[in-house]
Parts: sequence; C-alpha cells; structure tokens
Amino acid sequence: MSSSISAHAVAKLIIAGEHAVVYRRPALAVPIPDITAIVQIAAAPHGHGCWLEAPDLDQRGRVGIDAHPLIDLITDLLTAWHLPTPDVTVTIHSTIPIASGMGSGAAVATALVRAFAAWCDKSLTREDLGAFVYRSEQRLHGTPSGIDNTVIAYDQPISFCRQAPRADGTAQPPRIVPLAIGAPMTLVIADSGERSPTHLAVDGVRQRREQATAHYDALFDAIGAVTLVAEQALAAGDAALLGAACRQNHTLLQQIGVSIPTLDALVAAALKAGAYGAKLSGAGVGGVMFAVCPPDQGDIIRQALIGAGAVKAFITQLQPYQSVE
Ligand code: MEV
Repeated sequence: MSSSISAHAVAKLIIAGEHAVVYRRPALAVPIPDITAIVQIAAAPHGHGCWLEAPDLDQRGRVGIDAHPLIDLITDLLTAWHLPTPDVTVTIHSTIPIASGMGSGAAVATALVRAFAAWCDKSLTREDLGAFVYRSEQRLHGTPSGIDNTVIAYDQPISFCRQAPRADGTAQPPRIVPLAIGAPMTLVIADSGERSPTHLAVDGVRQRREQATAHYDALFDAIGAVTLVAEQALAAGDAALLGAACRQNHTLLQQIGVSIPTLDALVAAALKAGAYGAKLSGAGVGGVMFAVCPPDQGDIIRQALIGAGAVKAFITQLQPYQSVE
C-alpha cells in the first residue's frame, strides 16, 4: 500500500425544488466541479490511532475518543467493513463554504468514504457510497431528503424525488433520473456570507407546515410545478425559461419563510443587472443564491452581486448533458 492516498468530491447546487423535495416533490441538482472537498489519508506509526485533521472546518479529533459526525462516519465505515482502526492521519481540505447550501457536509463525507474505500481496498458502488453519506447526513441534519448525497455521489445532474412508502409500509428508494441539459447555461453563484445550518431551516419549515398544512402543501405543489418547468427549460437549453422558473421558485421560497433580506437583495440586484432569473439555493436563511445569465453578461452580473454585498461571486457554466435513463 502506498503511504498516502487522496480522494475528492464536488459541491452541488440545487437548481429548483429545495425544501419541497423533503415532502416528496421533485427537485433538480447539479454538481459544481469548481469547488471541492479533498480528503488525504497518510500512514502513521504503529499506535498513533486514526486522527482527523480538518483545519478548514476547525475540527480535530481521534477515532474512538472524540465525538464528531465525521469521526462517527469513519466508525460506521470500519464497522461495516469489519476492520480495526488503522494508524493514519486523515486530512480534510474543503473550499466549499460551510452551511451555505452547496453541500459542504455531503461533499466532505463523500470524499472521506471514497478515500477510506481506496485506503482499505474496498470496492464501492454509487449506492453504497450514497448510503454511507446519507447516514452521515442524517447524523448532521436529522431528516435529509437524500438529494445532496445523491447528486454528489453521482457527480452528474439529476432530478430527484422521494417516493411514498409501499402499501405494506416498507420504504421505497427515491426516483433518481439523469437531468438533460440541452445547451450551455451561464450561472453566477453568489455567497450571501450569512450562515445557517440546514437542519434549522428544514425544522422551521416543518414547524410552520404543522400550523398550516394545507397552505404549505399547496406551496410545495407550486414548487413542484415550477421545478418541472425548470426541467423542461434545461432540456431545451432555454436559459430565459429557466430564469423565469427560478424567479417563481424564489418567490415561493420566500413564502415558505426561508429567504432573508440579504438573499432577496442579491436576487433583485441580479435581475436589475440583466439576469434572466435568480433564486436562493439550498436550505436558505443564508448561504448562496444563483442567477441565470445571458452568456455575455456573466461578469456584469457577478460585479453587480459583489456591489450588492455578496462576499464572493463566481461564474460557472452548466455543460450540455445527455440524459440516458
Ligand atoms: C438542502 O441542500 C436541501 C433541502 O431541501 C433539505 C433536503 O433536501 O434534505 C433544504
């Protein structure tokens, strides 16, 4: 075995359908290869134990001693594979902002599982990988829909929809369909700089829905409908139609209470600067938004977003993608 190995995973962006996806409406997500999490495993002397070093996440700890969701994930892997704790140092670097809606937790967990599988010489199906990361997300977020771990494990654009349990009460796997993208799409992703853990936003929606279930379910239906429009727009390569769907989706996300003034200001600034549409992405209450841009206006819109207070904004291109089911 070599003395060190590394593995990476990409960030994700939810194009449409967040939050409603928890309640079995469809959602669309794409990988964002521009920003990544990287995990390196290096051999250490006998008796060292398994140490986790994550300077970007401000975390350090030892398997078997310290409590941390990533340490629990390593324990989960070693238990599933019937392996003793190796003498290694596991170093995590991530350029994905934490609690920003870009799947930092799922990407770090995915890179960690890939790195351990390579280190321990275990073959890993996409489904195994997704299942380990989903359990890790459950430890972090409580009730994730599974879209984050899936898009990151698949590393391809997907449409994702949770399925109702079967008549006998047993769980059904989610419907995961590759998402066609008919032409390149220019997006600008901007970070509001405000941070909010996913579980707080998801819990807030759940509590508000408990008080007004029919109203929230109607809003989720409306989000499901704009998500289908966004799916058709992507397949047709129609950026203007995608923008229109994003504008409507943002309004609906405001109505379920997960936008904040900073995100609304960024959306307004993008529209004023000529974007076809813009919306918050991910759990909201902070984190990122994105704008769908005419191809030659990405930089103008990026500058407008920085001018409106984004702590960071970058242009990314969704590449054409052929959906083969
Ligand atoms: C978070 O990236 C997306 C949410 O819909 C939560 C989930 O699907 O688990 C807000």
